[in-house]
Amino acid sequence: MRIRTIEDYHEAYKDSIEDPKTFWAAIAQEFRWKKPWTKVLDWSFDDYNVKWFRNGKLNITENCLDRHAENKPNHPALIWEPNDPEDEPEIITYKVLLDRVCRFANVLKKHGVTKGDRVCIYMPMIPELAVAVLACARIGAIHSVIFGGFSAQSISDRINDSQCELVVTTDGAVRGAKNIPMKETVDDALVACPSVKKVIVATHTRTPVSMIKGRDYWWESEVKHVEAECPAEEMDSEDPLFILYTSGSTGKPKGVVHTCGGYMVFTSYTFENVFQYHPGDVFFCTADVGWITGHSYLVYGPLLSGAITVMFEGIPTYPDAGRLWDIVDRHKVNILYTAPTAIRSLMGFGLEYLEGKDLSSLKVLGSVGEPINEEAWHWYNDHIGKGKCPIVDTWWQTETGGIMISPLAGITKTKPSYATLPLPGVQLELVDENGSTIEGNGVNGNLCITYPWPSIIRTTWGDHERCKSTYFSTYPGKYFTGDGCMRDEDGYYRITGRVDDVLNVSGHRIGTAEVENAINSHTGVVESAVVGYPHDVKGQGVHAFVICEEPQDEDSMMKRDILMTVSRIIGPIAKPDKIQIVSGLPKTRSGKIMRRILRKIAEGEYNNLGDTSTLLDPGVVDEIVKGAKEL
Ligand code: WTA
Repeated sequence: MRIRTIEDYHEAYKDSIEDPKTFWAAIAQEFRWKKPWTKVLDWSFDDYNVKWFRNGKLNITENCLDRHAENKPNHPALIWEPNDPEDEPEIITYKVLLDRVCRFANVLKKHGVTKGDRVCIYMPMIPELAVAVLACARIGAIHSVIFGGFSAQSISDRINDSQCELVVTTDGAVRGAKNIPMKETVDDALVACPSVKKVIVATHTRTPVSMIKGRDYWWESEVKHVEAECPAEEMDSEDPLFILYTSGSTGKPKGVVHTCGGYMVFTSYTFENVFQYHPGDVFFCTADVGWITGHSYLVYGPLLSGAITVMFEGIPTYPDAGRLWDIVDRHKVNILYTAPTAIRSLMGFGLEYLEGKDLSSLKVLGSVGEPINEEAWHWYNDHIGKGKCPIVDTWWQTETGGIMISPLAGITKTKPSYATLPLPGVQLELVDENGSTIEGNGVNGNLCITYPWPSIIRTTWGDHERCKSTYFSTYPGKYFTGDGCMRDEDGYYRITGRVDDVLNVSGHRIGTAEVENAINSHTGVVESAVVGYPHDVKGQGVHAFVICEEPQDEDSMMKRDILMTVSRIIGPIAKPDKIQIVSGLPKTRSGKIMRRILRKIAEGEYNNLGDTSTLLDPGVVDEIVKGAKEL
């Protein structure tokens, strides 16, 4: 379905509310099904259970690849831009991509992977990553992609949680000027992963790696010895397609599960309508495939729609802060989808990095992952879009699978820092702390969704109760997003940020409890509390208040060692920006840490700490304020 005018939007929205099943069935018709569904939707948000397109059979890769390889075999599917601009980009057509996916699918099969098995993918942004993801989908294996910035410990936790049998990785990775070991990190992880039987290693950096006989195999030699054809496994709409781990308010990341049918329908529908994709447009999503944005809008959404998708191996500041603009210029990118943190960082380098870059191919700009502040919005609009490219500020989550609230490019009137309106098919509600619905406009509340959409999270891997309690128990009968939200006088939505203990650091989701657990496991640490504070570039920074067994000198190694421990346990992305050693934390008489006070201190609001009289030891607050000022 294609929405082309604001009237279309309103009409589609109305239809989607009045008769959601007919609305979604019409969209689902556009895909290739092996067997049609018998019922559009079964659902309950009370005893959480959602099933879309019941008994429908399909394979998402036939929709991503075969359809297009038949109609336009030589049309580019993926453009790969290497880390080093001196290296050659690679253009992969639909036919070639299908061939590579089928070969690798046969390799997986040869190594005993069958439908329903879990495969862990830990790779840099190279074409083999997309090939590995799609090869899993081809044979019905469930992929669990782990972002390359996670540590060995994080990898083994995730592998063990979902009992992966095979890991796909590379020898090494390059990001900017840095060389990053990949296989070595996987080797460290696998010491604690008895479920893993095989590892496939793609050669990329030629870093020396250990290869264990009978367990480790080279990608390049494996693909030589298999057939080029691989029939697409028949999948039920509700068979899991992938697991993606994400942080919540507890110390343990959850495996968010998405299923084949609904995810396919929703990612393609949102891709085409939000970005107003036209055949032949070059689409560049800068997100890593290790995050949901890379899954939905670098791989699946664009390929489902037969688009040209750009994958960039490097970072926006290498070799200099003009790299993204070089890529736009070089590949004549029409649609650019990136995160506010990248925009703010590039903004800081100044306009000289835009000089001589031809950005005239750009038609649409997108933003995702965190609220975009007005200054960044205007810079993006004025200097990148030259005032002629609509900005789509897209709000969504790992759990929603695809974009939920966003302008439709060139159709919805935009407003800086507003995600604007829900997509047709998305039913929102704002509620107060008691769960009462807040009606009308010019209001603030907690953002809930009251009706299922096709790519809603189905479960958290291995623990359905956790899914129910995390998302459906705060406000019974509603999916609770964890975000605060404002609805202004025009009925436009503006996301104000998380209302739970989840931080958003450079667009990466990090649970404060996870960071605290990591810090607390450091020798000599008694207790810690982690909060976020506004950070000019990262959106949020991480401030850790730490109690140690022994008093620490200013120049003690303790802080640096704590950073190392966090890096080892979670990964460098979770390292605190500030570590403050304190002698106590503000606690209530029942022993609960008053995070509200710590947040205010981290934000520098020292004179506005609210009532501290109920604290066990009010004196501790003065000491913490003093320490924070000195940091
Ligand atoms: C935040 C990323 C404001 C939000 C796709 C959400 C946003 C969390 C926006 C999900 C936006 C995402 N404006 N905030 N346009 N997009 N967020 O799971 O707090 O990594 O709950 O998914 O990012 O992060 P996740």
